[in-house]
Amino acid sequence: MEIIKVEELSKSFGKLDVLKNISFSVNRGEVVAIIGPSGSGKSTLLRCITHLELVNGGSITLAGRDMVKDGVYAPPEALREICLKIGLVFQNFNLFPHFSVERNITEAQVHVLRRSKEDAAGRAKVLLEKMGLSDKAASYPFELSGGQQQRVSIARALALDPEVLFFDEPTSALDPELTGDILKVIRDLASEKMTMVIVTHEIPFAREVADRVLFMDGGAFIEEGPAAELIDNPRLERTKAFLARLSRFGEIETKR
Ligand SMILES: Nc1ncnc2c1ncn2[C@@H]1O[C@H](COP(=O)(O)OP(=O)(O)O)[C@@H](O)[C@H]1O
Ligand SMILES: [Mg+2]
Repeated sequence: MEIIKVEELSKSFGKLDVLKNISFSVNRGEVVAIIGPSGSGKSTLLRCITHLELVNGGSITLAGRDMVKDGVYAPPEALREICLKIGLVFQNFNLFPHFSVERNITEAQVHVLRRSKEDAAGRAKVLLEKMGLSDKAASYPFELSGGQQQRVSIARALALDPEVLFFDEPTSALDPELTGDILKVIRDLASEKMTMVIVTHEIPFAREVADRVLFMDGGAFIEEGPAAELIDNPRLERTKAFLARLSRFGEIETKR
């Protein structure tokens, strides 16, 4: 069953057309990886679906409810409810620097979901355990490594019980030795059948964890397919060239 449905989505910044009539859907429990060159519109797409940017046209349906239909947004209260179904994990963590780790995870539970402080703290405790960060509840973000901060931001997103989680290059701000922890967390979530849309340059990871890969270039999905098929045997020259370029980078990185 479709949990995300995007139809003919368009977005421009001034004269720059960034998303050009994008259509795709994601089924419940599916993991979809989005790959593509820098500047192709991947972050803008995630920001439109998570309502951090307004679209210029098209439709977005989440869990059967229209966030925006033919360019017209749902009324504020409905929009608020729809947005509660989705979580976004950013490249640069975006934690509240002046809140402890625990408060980063409880704040929205209390103020958005109206959970009691006790319930919110209980949920934070369970999630911190799951992320291997039980001893960090009282720490502040600046006291943590990038990998630990990213795990807190995943816990913060999960605390609101989203039906879909979006990740925008969750490992690209991390030192290579820290990316493994994050990939493991995402892998675990996939095995729990969490629906996820992941923008990533980690091609071997995308091949392993994603059911499907979408290749974005110039504001459109130009090729898509089952992960192993698209990555091992891309059809289009542009997809081939992109993957070859990335794997060359990879070699240089590991040789250093
Ligand atoms: N807020 C903005 N204002 C103007 N242009 C933007 C803004 N956000 C992104 N862009 C432009 O949109 C294009 C796509 O950017 P982005 O979605 O960040 O690509 P990607 O995530 O694939 O690297 C780029 O040309 C970028 O400069
Ligand atoms: Mg981006």
